[in-house]
Amino acid sequence: MKITLTSSEAAFDRMAARRIIDAIAGNPAAVIGLSTGRTTTNIHRTIGRLYREEPFDTSRVTFFGVDEVTHVPRSYAGACYTMLKNQIIDPLEIPDDRFLMLPTDAPDPDAACRAFQQSLEDRGGIDYLVLGLGTNGHVGFNQPGTPFDSDTHPARMDEALEARIRRETATPPSVDLGGLTLGIRPMLQARRILLVAKGAVKAPIVREMIEGPVTTDVPATFLRLHPHCEVLLDNEAAAFL
Ligand code: GLP
Repeated sequence: MKITLTSSEAAFDRMAARRIIDAIAGNPAAVIGLSTGRTTTNIHRTIGRLYREEPFDTSRVTFFGVDEVTHVPRSYAGACYTMLKNQIIDPLEIPDDRFLMLPTDAPDPDAACRAFQQSLEDRGGIDYLVLGLGTNGHVGFNQPGTPFDSDTHPARMDEALEARIRRETATPPSVDLGGLTLGIRPMLQARRILLVAKGAVKAPIVREMIEGPVTTDVPATFLRLHPHCEVLLDNEAAAFL
């Protein structure tokens, strides 16, 4: 794993944005996976700003989201679809046929997961995969205990996120929230991975991911098995290394 440290949040955002723009420049027809959350929001906005200042070719790139919340409408502001669309897809003028998402509502979630993974394979596989890190080590919605050979599948959210979404969408306890996530096996098959983590809250799990044993108890440790993974950290997330 290559570890890159940045000295400030602004430098972190700029460097991550630059990595993604470089991935497009290096392969204009790249298939690129994106993650939502507090860590990536400013990265996406930075990419949008750089595109406005100096447009680059986005006419062939395909973006997809690594996970999605289920049982909420796509229009909900916290749906991964809507977050990515507002933060990066629309600013980069990407049409719908080059923005692939798992559905928020599918009659057959397993079939939707299979179709999604197949659509990535049909486009030649994942060239660049940007991942965030949960404080319990989850990646996408692959929670602790998820096998490293898991395919794209329905999953649970972490409790804090589930509680927040339930509150924001006024979803009653009788309705099961949840998520769909790219599995760890297709993540491991991506040609290159960028894991981004910032803030003091991530420092303990960053240390476990990098220095602890490789175990499904800490899903992000699978990244140590990948031949081309870069971990980008700000100084606070790197504090315990
Ligand atoms: C959620 C998302 C993940 C993301 C993680 C980290 O669980 N499903 O894809 O990586 O949160 O989010 P944050 O950057 O807000 O800490």
